[in-house]
This record gives sequence, structure tokens and C-alpha cells, in this order.
Amino acid sequence: MMGGVFLEVVVGVRPYVLLSVAMSVDGFIDDASGAPLALSNEADFDRVDEVRAGCDAILVGAGTVRADDPRLLVRSDARRAERVRRGLGATPLKVTLTRNGDLDPAARFFTLGDVEKLVYAASPSVERARASLAGVATVVDAGDPLDLTAVLTDLAARGVRRLMVEGGGEIHTLFLSAGLADELHLVIAPFFVGDPAAPRFTGTGPFPHGPDNRMHLAETRQIGDVVLLRYLPKPVHENGAKRASAGAPGQGETDRRWLEYAIELSRRCPTSTTAFAVGAVVVDGEGTVLATGHSRESDPLDHAEEAALAKIPADDPRLATATLYTSLEPCTTRASRPRGCTELTLAAGIPRVVFAWREPSLFADCTGAETLSAAGVEVVEVSDLAAEARQVNAHLFPG
Ligand SMILES: NC(=O)c1ccc[n+]([C@@H]2O[C@H](COP(=O)([O-])OP(=O)(O)OC[C@H]3O[C@@H](n4cnc5c(N)ncnc54)[C@H](OP(=O)(O)O)[C@@H]3O)[C@@H](O)[C@H]2O)c1
Ligand SMILES: [Zn+2]
Repeated sequence: MMGGVFLEVVVGVRPYVLLSVAMSVDGFIDDASGAPLALSNEADFDRVDEVRAGCDAILVGAGTVRADDPRLLVRSDARRAERVRRGLGATPLKVTLTRNGDLDPAARFFTLGDVEKLVYAASPSVERARASLAGVATVVDAGDPLDLTAVLTDLAARGVRRLMVEGGGEIHTLFLSAGLADELHLVIAPFFVGDPAAPRFTGTGPFPHGPDNRMHLAETRQIGDVVLLRYLPKPVHENGAKRASAGAPGQGETDRRWLEYAIELSRRCPTSTTAFAVGAVVVDGEGTVLATGHSRESDPLDHAEEAALAKIPADDPRLATATLYTSLEPCTTRASRPRGCTELTLAAGIPRVVFAWREPSLFADCTGAETLSAAGVEVVEVSDLAAEARQVNAHLFPG
């Protein structure tokens, strides 16, 4: 295998789209009573709050704005303060989609939160929406019919890198059937609704993930009496956005998806002022996740790559086809443990490393990319994701 460091050039980036939903065991996301139905428990609401705090914008359909009158704010004071400290608004932007423009300016979506509210309206309803929402929201003409890819591109242009989509059913169907969700958080509540008049998670649609195209189940997590399933739908089609020019066709897109997942994992690290927050995932040649890891995962000294590699038996033959995706360049020298992640990667026999962010000389000098490359490992640097990987560590770079 050729060594070398390649740069990927990416055009027309859209936000990372994380779709979040809670449903009953029989697949309903509400009952038919008209009053909101609590599917999650307190601990899960808190998890959702944390996910929200890590996003730049939250999107719901106009149907949810009307049915639930949700606040869509980060609830925790500590998380709001942390966002402000990172130079962000206390709570993410709010976004909704509408076909007919029938939205009430007195809804909490518009009245609460000192953030911009964006309404993407299908062209014929733009005037109507602008008239009723003047002063409370920015109404954007999203085409006729509404062009979801254009909406995402516009959000990216407004600085939205991570978008959380919180329903309802029609909106989930729209994103999932278009193959525009990068990650799906599905929470199952331990009860039945059993009413055909109640809304379901999704309706009818040309979902790309049928029986022949299964999604990747990345995680299951019990949270009290509910369970969280995290799926990574595979990229379905190139939509002009996020297209990488380097490498084999499709490889760039696959690399980005896993690297974004690694960055996602880095958000789980316990906060530290003396070490980076890093996420890592090891994927074999068939696309199977061998292990994930993040900094300080089970010990304050853990590095992400180290934590992931420790979970894979040294004689696992899949290591020979594996790629290590890590949000930060693997370290070479470290004060805390004898072997750096570069050495551990070489010892594991992993032939390929993809990373986002070059290690800045903050805690140690690092020559991970060069060392791996010199040892014959294919090293790919996806530098346009570096800002996102660094953002998770913004508190280490005050001012
Ligand atoms: N359990 C959960 O996690 C969860 C989360 C959120 C919501 N919910 C539930 O979901 C239900 C609401 O779901 P829903 O399906 O009725 O509403 P929805 O998905 O929130 O919104 C549907 C509306 O979005 C707009 N829209 C959808 N597709 C569009 C397109 N292609 N172009 C332009 N606009 C488009 C339309 O707005 P206009 O009608 O204005 O044209 C449409 O009526 C409620 O019962 C709520 O409680 C549950
Ligand atoms: Zn390390």
C-alpha cells in the first residue's frame, strides 16, 4: 500500500443531519388525544437536551409547531452557559418547514428563545407567511415544491453544521425517504398506543433502507425504562453536496461519514482542560464497526484510539482490512502512558488511518501522520472537517 497524506476537497457541504424521535413499542409518536404524550422519561429528556445543546439548529415540521407548541430550547442552564462560553447562542436556531404557510406568530416556536427563527416555505405560501410572521421569523422561499437539499445548503450557508430534526411524522418521512439523515436516534417507550388515529413514526415513502439495504446499528443504550437505538443510515446517493474528489469513487463519502461519526463520539468525552476530546472508530473492510472509543472513556488518561483498539483482540483478522477514523491526528509522544496511539495503531496492523484535525502543539509535539505514513500506512487527512473536530475542544483555545 502506498503511504502518503491526501487532502480531500469538498464542495457544497450540507449540515450533518441527526434525526431524533421517541415512539411507543407499536410505532406511534403520539396518541390521538390532542394533548402531548410523554414517551420518554426524565433521563432521556435530559439526553435529548444534551444532544440539542450540541447542535446549531433544531428543525420540526409546521404540523408539530401547531400540534405541540414546543419550546425547542436547551433547558439546562449549565449547557446554555457552556454554549455561550463557546461563542454560540444560548440555544440553537429554530427551523420549520411549511407548504401552506399557516403558522401562528404567537406559537412558542416564535416567541421563546433569543435566537433566529427560520421558516422555509414553499414558494406559493411565502407572501402569506411573511405577512403573518413579520418581525418574528425569517421566511425563506424554498421552491415549489420545497427543495429539501436547497434548504440544507441554505442552512449550511448560515453556519449550521449540525442539524437536529425532531419530527413529526411527515418531516421524518421526508428526510428518511430522501436519504438525507446521517444519524437516527430512535427511542422506544415501554407501552402501546394502539390507536389507528394516532400519528406513526413514518408514513409511506420510497425509503432507501429496505430489507436489502439495512442501516448500521451503531449503538443501543438503556436509559431507565426506555431504550435508545442509534442507527447510521448509509449514504444513499450523491446529491451534489458533500462530494469528495479524492480517492476511489464513493470512498470519500464513506470516509466522511465515519469521520463525522468519530467527531460525534468526541462529544461524549468528559470535559478536561488538560487534554483533547477525541473520538475514534475502527471499521473493517466490509464496513463493520470493530470498536469505538473516546477520550477519558473509562479512565481519565484514556485516549480515544487507545480505548477503541483495546476492545479489539490483537489476533482479529479484520484488523488487516480496517481503517481507524479519528477526529484528531494520532499522538506520537505522550506523558501519561508509555505507548502513543500511533504506535498502538502500527502494532495492531491497521493499514489505513483517516483523521480530521492535525494535532496543534498544545500538550505535546505530534508527528503521527508522518510516522504512520513512513511505516506504510495510508493516511488520509480530511481537513475540511478539522474545524468541527476542533470546535468540540473550543474551551482549550480561549480568546
Ligand atoms: N415522539 C416524537 O418524537 C415526536 C416529535 C415531534 C412530533 N411528534 C408528533 O408528530 C405529530 C405531528 O406530525 P405531523 O406529521 O402531523 O407534522 P410534522 O411532520 O411536524 O409537520 C408536517 C408539516 O410540515 C410541512 N411539510 C411537510 N413536508 C413538507 C414539504 N415537502 N414541503 C413543505 N412543507 C412540508 C407541512 O406544513 P404545512 O401544513 O404548514 O404546509 C406539513 O403539514 C404530532 O402529533 C406530534 O406530537 C412526535
Ligand atoms: Zn493518543
